[in-house]
Amino acid sequence: MSITREAPLPCASFGAALHLGKTAQEIVAVAERDPEALSAALAEAKGLLLIQSMNAIADDPDLLIRLSRVFGPEVEDYRHTLTDLKSVHASVPEILLVSNMPPVGKAPPKRPEPPLAADGLIPVQYPHRHGWHTDQSYRRPPPDISLFYAVTPSQRDTGQTLFANGILAYEALPAALKARVEKLDGLHAQPGSGRSREAALAGRTPRAFAAHERSQRQPVVRTHPVTGERSLSLGEWGQMDWFEGPFVGIEPGPHGAGAALLDEIMAHLTERRFCYAHEWTQGDLLVWDNRCLVHAATWFDGNKEGRLMWRTTVHGNPGAYYAGEKKSWLPA
Ligand SMILES: [Fe+2]
Repeated sequence: MSITREAPLPCASFGAALHLGKTAQEIVAVAERDPEALSAALAEAKGLLLIQSMNAIADDPDLLIRLSRVFGPEVEDYRHTLTDLKSVHASVPEILLVSNMPPVGKAPPKRPEPPLAADGLIPVQYPHRHGWHTDQSYRRPPPDISLFYAVTPSQRDTGQTLFANGILAYEALPAALKARVEKLDGLHAQPGSGRSREAALAGRTPRAFAAHERSQRQPVVRTHPVTGERSLSLGEWGQMDWFEGPFVGIEPGPHGAGAALLDEIMAHLTERRFCYAHEWTQGDLLVWDNRCLVHAATWFDGNKEGRLMWRTTVHGNPGAYYAGEKKSWLPA
């Protein structure tokens, strides 16, 4: 299949917009005819694809599941995970609802202060920008790929999704820092489980975890199972374990040596030259590779508008590092 694409994405040095057809039905059929081509396009774009005009998914959610299967063998059923069931689509359990509206009722992220960066653009760099993570990094093996579809996006210039490219950031990492992170593992915790940096700073005592909820170690430098490229992979305030981590084997806690190292790595990883900010249009669909990108959500005015996005998560090829592992999130 010859794929028409525009690459990189605007104002970024990675990502591609694919043109596969006019309607979601046509696009999904084209993708299903040659799944290898889509996976190759994702790898070539260093982990981020934009497919537009997918509006028909809103009335036919199975199209989203079919497209997800093009990218891997297992599309997650959210009923069997650590997910709150009010965030799961009522009739298609492979769809996670991301919304400020009922029944989900998840508030948008805080607006950064100041709202714009010194260059007049939306802030991306940590710690001005918070919320960087990869999806479900608190589970092992972690998922490969996420698909995110805009049913009802928020107003222009709000509610963007930001991406930082771990491959580009790793390549540009100073040699001394590269050596420090080479064999390092981060300790990732589920957001909302009481192990955030805020919770540690406030001196709270985290609740005990059942075995299947425990924080999980993940390498800070990942090797991509398809391309062999190495990338930086890390979360920050909300999705690391700030009581026992953020790193394994380095002084823990919000004021420890681990905290200082995390701040340094995250500030590098999220430099604007490694980032892309997606402005959503209704019907847009993004496909991103959690094995080489981190991402963050941005503020929108949840008092004035309701935003609804659908996400699916694809598993099946986390890489040799995780070979043979059982799913950490399933109770024994
Ligand atoms: Fe996410």
